[in-house]
Amino acid sequence: MNSSELNQQIIFVTGKGGVGKSTVAAAIAWSHAQAGQKTLLVELGYQSFYQDYFHLEKVSYKPTSLKPGLDVALWSGPECLREYALHLIKVETLYRLFFENQVSRSLINVAPALSELAILGKVTSHLRKVGPEMTYDCIVVDAFSTGHMLALLRAPLGMAEAIHFGPMGDQTRAIFEILKDSAKTSFFVVSLPEELPVIESLELSKGIHETTGSNPVLLLNKFLPIPGVLIKTQLESSFANFISATQERQNSALKKLSQPNVPVKKLPFILTSKSWEIVDTLAKEFIHA
Ligand SMILES: Nc1ncnc2c1ncn2[C@@H]1O[C@H](COP(=O)(O)OP(=O)(O)OP(=O)(O)O)[C@@H](O)[C@H]1O
Ligand SMILES: [Mg+2]
Repeated sequence: MNSSELNQQIIFVTGKGGVGKSTVAAAIAWSHAQAGQKTLLVELGYQSFYQDYFHLEKVSYKPTSLKPGLDVALWSGPECLREYALHLIKVETLYRLFFENQVSRSLINVAPALSELAILGKVTSHLRKVGPEMTYDCIVVDAFSTGHMLALLRAPLGMAEAIHFGPMGDQTRAIFEILKDSAKTSFFVVSLPEELPVIESLELSKGIHETTGSNPVLLLNKFLPIPGVLIKTQLESSFANFISATQERQNSALKKLSQPNVPVKKLPFILTSKSWEIVDTLAKEFIHA
């Protein structure tokens, strides 16, 4: 492994449910791929969103190609844990003996932090030189939403406090070091441009900051740029009402963000139903950033 491979960048995209996390994560990943970086877009969980969204044949643990320079994969906690355990234990039958028996299975189920730790272990594995090679310049994670995201980030801390010695303790601390290193790991919180969602997103950003020390970029997604020249009398009254209500909502959201230390970026509402067109258009917002 040469030193340039250790420049891998990890980007987490989170936010409340339904705000556009997956779409924005894909756009960020695509912007990196277009900039010449070999990029992996990772979704977490058991069911792929991107498979249907991008009309792909199959999205699973093993990366598949989405576009030139851009692969996509779906990682679940148990799959990451399995790969890690196999890497440690090496022998498949020994792995089965321990991880696929009733007792250890229920242990995994009652210790969700283990599953979360395995996901973070996989995400950071290349930088820690553990496990199979993942020679990507950039990994973009379409991560969990709010509460689950904070639980994910806090998993290594809890585990490091519980386990002081041995390889598990060392690896847990190494994972956490990468999450805390803003040169390696960055965070985006996606929000709708409305007051309450913004207040909740700021809370999430605060939680991420308290856990990792990072200052996430807040992305105001589905922002409607309303030209100042658009005066009411030029519009049908119902549409005029919609425009002024939207403008008011967006302005009150922006007011909540007028504090220093919160990097904010507006992402426009793309008026199309074609998923790739949305992603491709949003990606341009990151290329020119
Ligand atoms: N800027 C945008 N302009 C237009 N449509 C968008 C934009 N961002 C997201 N969408 C659309 O909004 C819908 C929800 O987006 P998405 O599935 O990415 O949200 P999510 O936060 O990942 O949802 P979930 O919490 O269910 O995972 C999708 O149909 C997507 O195409
Ligand atoms: Mg999603």
